[in-house]
Amino acid sequence: MANVTVIGAQWGDEGKGKIVDWLASRADAVVRFQGGHNAGHTLVVGDQTYKLSLLPSGIVTGTLSIIGNGVVLDPWHLKAEIAKLEGQGVEINTENFAIADNCPLILPLHRDLDALRETAAGAGKIGTTGRGIGPAYEDKVGRRAIRVCDLAHLDALDAQLDRLCAHHDALRAGFGQPPVDRAALLAELKEIAPFVLQYAQPVWKRLKKVRKAGARILFEGAQGVLLDVDHGTYPFVTSSNTVSGTAASGSGLGPNATGFVLGIVKAYTTRVGSGPFPTELEDATGQRLGERGHEFGTVTGRKRRCGWFDAVLVRQSCAISGVTGIALTKLDVLDGFETVRICTGYRLRGKILDYFPSHAADQAEVEPIYEDMEGWSGTTAGARSWADLPAQAIKYIQRVQELIETPVALVSTSPEREDTILVRDPFED
Ligand code: GDP
Ligand code: IMO
Ligand code: MG
Repeated sequence: MANVTVIGAQWGDEGKGKIVDWLASRADAVVRFQGGHNAGHTLVVGDQTYKLSLLPSGIVTGTLSIIGNGVVLDPWHLKAEIAKLEGQGVEINTENFAIADNCPLILPLHRDLDALRETAAGAGKIGTTGRGIGPAYEDKVGRRAIRVCDLAHLDALDAQLDRLCAHHDALRAGFGQPPVDRAALLAELKEIAPFVLQYAQPVWKRLKKVRKAGARILFEGAQGVLLDVDHGTYPFVTSSNTVSGTAASGSGLGPNATGFVLGIVKAYTTRVGSGPFPTELEDATGQRLGERGHEFGTVTGRKRRCGWFDAVLVRQSCAISGVTGIALTKLDVLDGFETVRICTGYRLRGKILDYFPSHAADQAEVEPIYEDMEGWSGTTAGARSWADLPAQAIKYIQRVQELIETPVALVSTSPEREDTILVRDPFED
């Protein structure tokens, strides 16, 4: 298998960015295939910290970085993120960066609608990142999206905007909002068009060439399987498919290109936004996990909810996403806990479940069944080899892989790029 597909196996923020950055130096191309700038990845390289939302994490190592058709793209955010990274010395040019010309755009009207709906939902809100992701995907599926290639046909854009605005104006009226300022939107699109178009191309062709040359492709997933619009904790999910299968449809390569599926798994569990979370800890232990793990969102700065490792959820994610092996991250956050707990099953109205049910009410009601393990007194922080790990930490890793029925390929022990233990090379598998 020459290619690797990285996906999050929980509710996002598992440390995908760090692992993609680490793997990127061994890849020839890195491709984002779904989501948008709702993602937030923190990469730490020496004394530099990079925060990425839309650009593939491979850009930091200068690896060819591609935004696939499955992504929803906010052109103004793109410009700002490129400027920010260039300010940190990262080189981004038409040689090392490309955008699929059939990528749908996120427009200010999508952000408006996202905010209007969330405000109207009150306590029932999803807790979105407010970046217009859901409304943009709706317009894509509704066949009225403006796409990157449309920016090269400005004469036809007027009529396209008529259709799109007719839809949005009706929705906005329902919220007591004025219609879209169509003229201003058209002017903004005309202004940003040349910037976006310099990177635009049919990336499937570029990828076909890369593949034919025998090069290694790294597919970079955003969010996590439990936020998948089909398989996640619906309706508290994002609006794309986050599973590994999307790597093919979201990039323009067939399913046989996916290669080794590397599920990124945090050694405990976190979630941002609303929705069920069986092992959530609303006590001092949860607080401690959040503090030790610096669990604040990269995109919104929101505090992430924290809880023990849920083996039922991860086993399900690995099965649904065909995970070949996992990267277990943030093991160091568990350093110093006297006892660590793992959820091995659920109790639901007197019944024992070995899976996470589909209905939101059942998901909210399941009670975790825990297995307790002795913690470790030594430290895993900064470990770069298996031999550096305390015996009890190794036992924890072994128990995790047994319960999730999937082997561990990598272990991450700090935010720093090089603090990574390679157990099984996904590119050589
Ligand atoms: P992503 O969205 O999956 O890329 O993850 P985020 O970057 O949003 O969140 C993961 C956070 O944990 C980031 O701040 C990383 O720098 C940090 N991180 C990644 N791996 C490790 C690790 O092994 N240990 C610790 N302590 N932090 C890590
Ligand atoms: P990365 O790639 C964690 C969550 C939001 C919300 C739900 C829907 O950094 O792991 P959206 O704006 O997508 O419509 O919000 O999904 N969410 C994430 N949570 N990590 C992410 O990305 C997320 N992207 C979206 O908090 O609950
Ligand atoms: Mg994140």
